[in-house]
Amino acid sequence: MSSAEKVLGKEVLRAYSEFREWHFDLKNTLDKLDVNSVGQLAYLDRILPGERNHYFNEINRLGALTEGYRLEQKQYFFQFIATNGLHHILKGAPYFYHSIFKPRGYAGDAEMMALVYRNTYEGSDTFSKLLHRIGTDCDACVAIRNRKNLLADSFLEFQSGKVLSLAAGPAQEIYEYLDANHQDKDFLALDHDIQTLRNANGENPLLKYGIANAFHLIKGNKRYLLPRRLWLNSCDPKKDVKGFRRSFLPLKYSIGTIHNNSWDLVYSAGLFDYIKTFEDPAKGTVALTRALFDAVKPGGRLLIGNISPKLSIGVKWAMECLCDWYLIHRIETEMLDFARSVPSREIASINVIAEETGINWFLDIRKR
Ligand SMILES: C[S@@+](CC[C@H](N)C(=O)[O-])C[C@H]1O[C@@H](n2cnc3c(N)ncnc32)[C@H](O)[C@@H]1O
Repeated sequence: MSSAEKVLGKEVLRAYSEFREWHFDLKNTLDKLDVNSVGQLAYLDRILPGERNHYFNEINRLGALTEGYRLEQKQYFFQFIATNGLHHILKGAPYFYHSIFKPRGYAGDAEMMALVYRNTYEGSDTFSKLLHRIGTDCDACVAIRNRKNLLADSFLEFQSGKVLSLAAGPAQEIYEYLDANHQDKDFLALDHDIQTLRNANGENPLLKYGIANAFHLIKGNKRYLLPRRLWLNSCDPKKDVKGFRRSFLPLKYSIGTIHNNSWDLVYSAGLFDYIKTFEDPAKGTVALTRALFDAVKPGGRLLIGNISPKLSIGVKWAMECLCDWYLIHRIETEMLDFARSVPSREIASINVIAEETGINWFLDIRKR
């Protein structure tokens, strides 16, 4: 018995081998086709439903077979896949390239989020375009697009004011709101990755895009940096705050503070899924919830997103075993536990709400 058979099991290996072969067969077929660019998309539209169906059936089968896997088995599976060519042929599909190869060091980078929102055919060849589109059609991506709409709707709730997004990524919901000619709110979008700011979707006087790290906020550092436009390409915040480069900080950035009781709406989506909850309220999700709640004005609202266990087993398998991408899936009581250190006298209401699929939900706290 090979070591792969020992660790993964024969049935899983068989199912995986069929899944892998499907990719190579499809690539072979699509590589041979001579389709011009207009015909190519029409052709892809025709075959998408069938191939997508097959793909999701296959990953659900793998998900069911590996449901009881330990972390080491999942990690072994990822390494096993990495050595047998499947990752290589997925490289041309941007969705899989970002998920598997993590060019920014983590999977859910802002570029990845932007392509999930576009949900079109993207990629270096016909096969890659199709696989990319199958990826962005999965239930996790549908839930991300729904989550964006839920957030945009939350902007409509109050007439004017200030909105803060932490781990803002491409800030798609903000751009869509501003593009619809709403001019009633000021937005601050904060992210830890300078590349997110460089890729931002244009400038708008009502949106400031800055650098802040959630882990610094957990430790009580409420400062954020707004790179000055001329310096944006040479900003490297992690280095700029250290040593002799510190003295150039005011030249390259304007510096702001997330003041308490000053935001009508504070939200964060796609961040808490990576942060642990500890017993110690000064750490992790509990501390971050407290810091974000403190920033909310009396009468204001805090929304904190996290993935729920409703994600399909197939997509969970693909994220973990195919892409080595782990999220902390949380049940309702774990969401409510984020607010453990928020004084109850300051809470007007506390709920867990979800977008349509139920896969992305939000802790929703209103401040008295
Ligand atoms: C999954 S994306 C979500 C982006 C956006 N909220 C959305 O829903 O489209 C996660 C974002 O969190 C940012 N991020 C990751 N770790 C962070 C941290 N410690 N502090 C601030 N931002 C962080 C990443 O750069 C990325 O843009």
